[in-house]
Amino acid sequence: MTHWRPIWSFLGAPALAVVLLGVLPSQSFSQDESAGGAGTGEHDFRLYCSNCHGEGGRGDGPKTFGLSEPAPDLTGLSLRNGGVFPRERLQAVIDGRETLKNHGDREMPVWGLWFKMEAEEDLGGAEGDEGTVQRRITALIDFLETLQSP
Ligand code: HEC
Repeated sequence: MTHWRPIWSFLGAPALAVVLLGVLPSQSFSQDESAGGAGTGEHDFRLYCSNCHGEGGRGDGPKTFGLSEPAPDLTGLSLRNGGVFPRERLQAVIDGRETLKNHGDREMPVWGLWFKMEAEEDLGGAEGDEGTVQRRITALIDFLETLQSP
């Protein structure tokens, strides 16, 4: 069993609703490592993102109906940005911790906090490894880049 910190208390109601909807898997990152492929962007995407954004990132995941705003199509990120893959913006959007400080109005889970919590659990509750958080977000962005329509 995973033990939960009172992390949801500062994520706010939308994030809590997401948890109650069962969007997030209950197994932790560390437990999954033996399965192989863990830690790759593709693996994390299937585990954490495809429920809302769809297997191929087209915004057609099975959980998207519960949202007040549909999960965006992630295959047109470059197209919508004048043909340039918006790597730096994505880093901030996926992490989400910076946005959270400004306003808590967000339906997508705050992945920076989530990955940080998992990193902390890997270390048995010691201080979390920020490097792990950044590496996983970068791997996700690399995977998103492979989904871009020409
Ligand atoms: C609970 C459903 C849900 C899950 C799970 C989810 N997202 Fe999202 N995502 C959204 C919604 C809704 C938005 C629109 C902004 C908002 O309301 O937060 C969004 C926005 C985004 C954007 C911004 C797109 C743009 O055009 O600016 C990116 C990038 C993104 N998500 C990536 C991810 C990644 C990577 C994961 C997995 C680690 C993920 N999402 C998991 C619902 C979700």
